[in-house]
Amino acid sequence: MFRKDFMWGGATAANQCEGAWNVDGRGMAKTDVTTGGSVNSHRLVTYVDKDGKPGTLPGMGNGTLPEGAHYAVLEDYYYPNHDGIDFYHHYKEDIALMAEMGFQIFRMSISWSRLFPRGDEETPNEKGVEFYRNVFTELRKYNIEPLVTLSHFDTPLYLEEHYGGWNNRKLIGFFDRFAKTCFTEYKGLVKYWLTFNEINNTVMFLELFGNTATDEMYQSAYQQLHYQFVASAHAVKTGHEIDPENQIGCMICGITFYPLTSDPKDIMLNRHTWEKGIFYCGDVQCKGKYPTFAKRLWDEHHVRLDMTEQDLKDLQEGCVDMYTFSYYMSTVVTTHEVTEKVSGNFSAGAKNPYLTYSDWGWALDPVGLRYYLEMLYDRYEKPMMVVENGLGAYDKVEEDGSIHDPYRIDYLREHIKEMDLAVKEGVDLLAYTMWGCIDLVSAGTGEMRKRYGFIYVDKDDEGKGTYARSRKDSFYWFKKVIASGGEDLD
Ligand code: BG6
Repeated sequence: MFRKDFMWGGATAANQCEGAWNVDGRGMAKTDVTTGGSVNSHRLVTYVDKDGKPGTLPGMGNGTLPEGAHYAVLEDYYYPNHDGIDFYHHYKEDIALMAEMGFQIFRMSISWSRLFPRGDEETPNEKGVEFYRNVFTELRKYNIEPLVTLSHFDTPLYLEEHYGGWNNRKLIGFFDRFAKTCFTEYKGLVKYWLTFNEINNTVMFLELFGNTATDEMYQSAYQQLHYQFVASAHAVKTGHEIDPENQIGCMICGITFYPLTSDPKDIMLNRHTWEKGIFYCGDVQCKGKYPTFAKRLWDEHHVRLDMTEQDLKDLQEGCVDMYTFSYYMSTVVTTHEVTEKVSGNFSAGAKNPYLTYSDWGWALDPVGLRYYLEMLYDRYEKPMMVVENGLGAYDKVEEDGSIHDPYRIDYLREHIKEMDLAVKEGVDLLAYTMWGCIDLVSAGTGEMRKRYGFIYVDKDDEGKGTYARSRKDSFYWFKKVIASGGEDLD
């Protein structure tokens, strides 16, 4: 039985839905120089070298620009995030549809470069500030609570190019200013905030490189994380000072890890995978200090962090109020030779014979969500929110315009059932925001055809379409779920 004040809704991110990438003074983010891709081919980041020759890097964010090169939009490529689903100009219509479903909460993010186009300015771009104020006011009109991510994969490109991004301590100060601006400008309109989206990806993604990830890559990843932890802690403190009503959460990419065998070596590897992938970030953000195992993780890769006494004090004083996370899949780890591997975007490891997989290779595992909720509630005893969960799938529009998506309904139903069991177990769950409640550009592949939404958007992978919105079968189903407080899942 969910709490009486449980909030049901959906989630999005600015870079994947707003579009209007160069409108009203917005500056660029890395996502604006990232091309489309697919399940089998990486997205690319484009640049021009010092002699004016175009070039590309793999879009996983780990490539370094050649000396003297700069990021650039190139003519021969398509950049799906430029227009997103044009939420910038459709937000009233989109929010009305969400209200029709009965949404009580809507997760979105603020594009940092819309407020601070370069990232290092003293004062914000007023047009940007106004846009989000209008969106929040529109949400409030329908009693929809905004849940706002401050940073969702879109650090201003200028900061990446001129400061080396989060490798530079100065970013903390720039983020402080951005966060303070948001808390001040939107006081009274927004009370639920998240600091960095899937903060743990920085280290977890390195695991996808297998043995090819170098010590240098780990050094950079752990250092970036440290600066982000400090920036997140500052944001929590400032947010509370500006408005004691503010509730601020971390945002962890939640994956449930299982050992493939009962070999004690697999059991130990599994524990260490949880520590590195999930607990490392959660512990710092929820407990305000690095866990004991951090030293082992740093030593493994000869990592030496720039970390001051003041940083450690700040971490302690800036613990988050809630543990908030995304959940899509579980993963299997083993020290044994893997005969059957998972293949997909951002999925790795051995295949789990007890599960089925999505068309993008993600393990469908509702029980894993319950496992995760119970395990993490036990660890931190903080209120929780599932702020992303959903199924990316191919949808077919019928002749009459209807869209039948029973696979999406099945996926969501089974996950909600498991959430319910976790709640019965005692987990204090505040909200559920289904990812991509309206179709948007996939972060991993840049595709439109990897659709998550209750609301269909008429746009394809080449950017063609009317951008018209329509209701899928799941739209009506979720409306019933919300109206019944999560009881009616048929
Ligand atoms: C999460 C991100 O990793 O997963 C979202 O926070 C993302 O931005 C979502 O869109 C689903 O991933 P994908 O690759 O299917 O878009």
